[in-house]
Amino acid sequence: MDHLAPVFAQFPIEVVAAEGVWLSTRDGRRILDLYGGHAVAALGYGHAGWLAALESQARAVHFQSNAVPMEVRTRAARRLVGFSGLPLDTVFFVNTGAEANENALKLACKVTGRAQVVALEHAFHGRSAAAGAVTWGAMAKWYGFPRPPFDVAFLPRRDASALAAGVTERTAAVIVEPVQGVGGAFDMGREYLAALRRRCDETGALLIFDEVQCGMGRTGHPFAASLYGVVPDMITTAKALGAGFPVGALMTGAKVAAALRPDALGTTFGGGPLACAAVTAVIDAIERGQLLDNVRRLSRIIRETCVVGPVTGTQGEGFLLGLRTRRPAKEVHAQLLERGILAGTSGDAQVLRLLPPFTLAEPHVALLRDALAEIGA
Ligand SMILES: Cc1ncc(COP(=O)(O)O)c(C=O)c1O
Repeated sequence: MDHLAPVFAQFPIEVVAAEGVWLSTRDGRRILDLYGGHAVAALGYGHAGWLAALESQARAVHFQSNAVPMEVRTRAARRLVGFSGLPLDTVFFVNTGAEANENALKLACKVTGRAQVVALEHAFHGRSAAAGAVTWGAMAKWYGFPRPPFDVAFLPRRDASALAAGVTERTAAVIVEPVQGVGGAFDMGREYLAALRRRCDETGALLIFDEVQCGMGRTGHPFAASLYGVVPDMITTAKALGAGFPVGALMTGAKVAAALRPDALGTTFGGGPLACAAVTAVIDAIERGQLLDNVRRLSRIIRETCVVGPVTGTQGEGFLLGLRTRRPAKEVHAQLLERGILAGTSGDAQVLRLLPPFTLAEPHVALLRDALAEIGA
């Protein structure tokens, strides 16, 4: 008997090992991983620098809580702020994306003294009480709590005309994925995000960018905020931040940081030394390997060469890329897997989502192109 909670639909493969961008299955197949464990495995598998950093930290001291100052933690925060190039220079490390959002939303309500949060249709922000409350469709499908912790309003995405009525002096925060992940690799674009920034400034609402999926280099830029040139009051990130070691972060600007006092936030495991060593190793690997250049270049090649077979167009940014399919993406997903390529689906039934490791190379894209061509329209 399998004792695991039956809450996840299962891919028809069992992975026993992985190297680079390749997964090995129990039945002896090699699978090209364009899904990256749901946008997590940014460095692929078996990355030497990431492994060495974790091993050396585990041997030095594998855990102490946030009550104990540690150089590995201050270094990770300093490197993350430096990597972002953004004026969000106070970092609170947590464990997951949902936890980062939970803390961001709590701070927004606290700092503004307001009780309404605005989110966008098709958004996904996580499974916890506050993050789930701002996740599109959660109430109907899985939310479970008797009520959300604040009032929630959803606005249509990329529709600046909805902002005047939708974001008001009652709004504590607007939370937005600059490139929606689960929503189908749907990019909000510079103009819409700039309009959102202006409306938040007019009303005193805080702007939160959920970059759990699109951040940490996935767009080919450190954060989507850097790509679009719009600075929010808070950024949340996770997934690629540890490249497989669980870690999330909340990054805040001065306005929110001014409200932080001892005990305002807390966590046992967040900011643990192994997580922080992983963060620094990921940033080292991205910078030394010029992986952001690689993401931008390969993303361009995918967009130029992979509109073949069932694919009619592309959307998204960098390696949060959507391939729009003529037929249900689920069918194409299954046909690719039969040909040894693992992609992702999304909340949009006609978008196949690619979330590959940043280390992907041109021959891998050629394999995808050929498989799509073979599948046919
Ligand atoms: C944009 C976004 N925010 C938040 C989350 C939740 O992150 P976690 O599963 O680490 O709690 C996800 C997870 O898919 C996500 O894509």
